[in-house]
Amino acid sequence: MKFFDIPSPCYVLQEEKLKYNLEILNNVRQHSGAKILLALKGYAFWRRFELVREYLNGCCASGIYEALLAFEEFGGREIKKDICVFSPAYKDFEIQQLLGIATHIIFNSFAQWQKYKNKIEIKNKQLQSLGFTKIEVGLRLNPLYSEVQPPIYNPCIKGSRLGITPGEFEKGVKEFGLEGIEGLHFHTHCEQNSDALFRTLGHFEKYFSPYIPQMKWVNFGGGHHITRADYDIEKLIDILKDFKARYCNTDVFLEPGEAIGWQSGFLIGEVIDIVWNGMYIAILDVSASAHMPDCLEMPYRPNVKKISLIDKKEVFEEDKGVNKAKYAYRFGGHTCLAGDIIGDYSFDSELKIGDRILFEDMMHYSIVKNNTFNGMPLPGLGTIQEDKFILLKSFDYNNYKDRN
Ligand SMILES: Cc1ncc(COP(=O)(O)O)c(C=O)c1O
Repeated sequence: MKFFDIPSPCYVLQEEKLKYNLEILNNVRQHSGAKILLALKGYAFWRRFELVREYLNGCCASGIYEALLAFEEFGGREIKKDICVFSPAYKDFEIQQLLGIATHIIFNSFAQWQKYKNKIEIKNKQLQSLGFTKIEVGLRLNPLYSEVQPPIYNPCIKGSRLGITPGEFEKGVKEFGLEGIEGLHFHTHCEQNSDALFRTLGHFEKYFSPYIPQMKWVNFGGGHHITRADYDIEKLIDILKDFKARYCNTDVFLEPGEAIGWQSGFLIGEVIDIVWNGMYIAILDVSASAHMPDCLEMPYRPNVKKISLIDKKEVFEEDKGVNKAKYAYRFGGHTCLAGDIIGDYSFDSELKIGDRILFEDMMHYSIVKNNTFNGMPLPGLGTIQEDKFILLKSFDYNNYKDRN
């Protein structure tokens, strides 16, 4: 396989790496008894869901579109897969459509639950008369504890709209009771290890433990970085087993997104020009702002390799770090945004116009968030299967025009 044969720009899934992640997650499922859902908000590469479906229990959706994608491409209750939906607020038409496909609906307030309770009960009678499992309803809670940095990713910051606080929960229980609620949900992690889950559970249980025994399930949300090399999987399995043992074998869900796509593919781009302004700046056909928005939001600096064609041979060189090697460059996108900067890199050999740049670990929170700012073409979507590149989808002008 030649990297120069891949059309640039293109996101490329490396299937054996995805499989590696899925095997780790499956191992957690088997040893802990927990159910693991794919959070589509982080990874929605449905063109290769065949593999994911084999290993995971279903999908976590943020609303009707993700739920529809899960239903069409992953499968729902008909093949015993879960489609578990949480949205900070649902509109009438969304609930109406979700009733046909969701297996779990999680509300962010007692008011929303009350608004749609009747509709769900009616639907459940129909489902049960047809021999299907019913829709299970849950509430998202805010345990007032999260270690996530920066604050834009922290669902427990002061004034957060995500999850019912312990005080509001007590009030809601007094007014409406919990009959019809079968699950509790919290999501307070981002790229964290199992020690953070251990500490968080202490806070969750401090406020909500009296209610757990009456629940069928508790959903521990996403943000568990289970497939990262230094993740303590044994500790996670112990935490999950211990929780289930203490609460009469309650089902536990985890809904990671990033851990599924983690280090399972790259974004390849090309050097279009190199300019000088006190430093060499390479202008690429990939953009932080349009194609890797988390580089600016998180922010983070992706790892890169440069690929040059020398005597028809592809020669790879890893970045040596900011100003570490002889040839140093700033990489930027070709949008108008002054801050469309991917990062600073350096190499032992000179960068040339036409060289390829491979941005590692670009399968999660990239494709799901990309955009056509400045009319930027969307990168293609491809996959590498047994050392063979397959182009799955390319985009054109119409994709830009349709969005405006
Ligand atoms: C409710 C909920 N579940 C799951 C996830 C997935 O998190 P991650 O991709 O970090 O595992 C998120 C991410 O924001 C979320 O908000």
